[in-house]
Amino acid sequence: MICLGIESTAHTAGIGIVNEKGEVLANEKDTFTTEEGGMIPRELAEHHAEKFPTVLKNAFEKANLKWKDIDIISYSAGPGMGPALSVGATLARLLALLHNKPLVAVNHCVAHIEIGKEKTGCKDPLVVYASGGNSQIIGYETGKYRVYGETLDIGIGNLLDSFGRQMGLGFPAGPIIDKMYSEAKNYIELPYSVKGMDLNFSGLLTSAKQKIGKVDEKDLAYSLMHTGFAMLTEVTERALAHTEKKEVLLVGGVAASKALQKMINEMCKERGVKMFVCPTPLAVDNGAMISWTGILMFKAGRKTEIEKATTNQKFRTDLEEINWV
Ligand code: ATP
Ligand code: FE2
Repeated sequence: MICLGIESTAHTAGIGIVNEKGEVLANEKDTFTTEEGGMIPRELAEHHAEKFPTVLKNAFEKANLKWKDIDIISYSAGPGMGPALSVGATLARLLALLHNKPLVAVNHCVAHIEIGKEKTGCKDPLVVYASGGNSQIIGYETGKYRVYGETLDIGIGNLLDSFGRQMGLGFPAGPIIDKMYSEAKNYIELPYSVKGMDLNFSGLLTSAKQKIGKVDEKDLAYSLMHTGFAMLTEVTERALAHTEKKEVLLVGGVAASKALQKMINEMCKERGVKMFVCPTPLAVDNGAMISWTGILMFKAGRKTEIEKATTNQKFRTDLEEINWV
């Protein structure tokens, strides 16, 4: 069984082709970028509409396959930006009709988790989903991926990028700050905001922005990242205590951060928990994760009728029924 998956929730127009063994045969993409790093929904939609034909062609060439080899089509149904989501969903419906293939609508966040599990071999992890737009602590419990804690305002990646933009670091700033992290010398006190199991990053962002130009740049960038990651780690640790899970899985673009990996791993070691990190090309937004989840869902009897193949900008992780775990 081979699935072609379409990703278009935000900046990435991605097509992945994956087989039943979880082998990634192609994972092609074209990512929207701007100098400022802002995402305007209409511009995203235009970008995706323009780039998808080439991305699709490249995916078939990379996988060395033809349409007759594809068994299922899956697409990211949300969460994400409406106009961008619509381009992917429309493409999915069109291709399904044209080539007479079954269609599966996939939750983007669930796809981040499933590809991470598949590629690291962990079984029942507590998931730290840390990306630009999302920051959630998630675990499987009775038919759902439950969200134990999450950001109440911006994602941890947006925190880093927005601060970096103001400091003139370029976009995305996450990887640049991650490098600066090990070179800093002093911690500068910044607001730390954990509310029960949830997080607030905007106070931290405002305070750090106000200090730009008044303190050492490296120290400030380090302190911002350190504070944000410490907040994530605290909530992760509490969720581990509550769920008694023995594995932690890092997914999303920020999972690539060496600083985050180190901090979470130290906490895990103290608790006798094993940490897993999704490999970067599959941890960021990509089509292969949508394909793989499409296969898992289809094998569990899930199929989306063309008429019902819509999108949902607010398709939360815990809205999806998980009948394949
Ligand atoms: P989602 O739609 O799931 O929220 P996204 O659109 O934010 O995802 P991703 O590719 O998952 O996209 O994540 C991008 C984020 O990851 C950016 O904010 C970027 O700064 C951050 N990032 C990437 N590499 C690193 C790194 N090494 N250290 C810290 N942050 C990083
Ligand atoms: Fe994502």
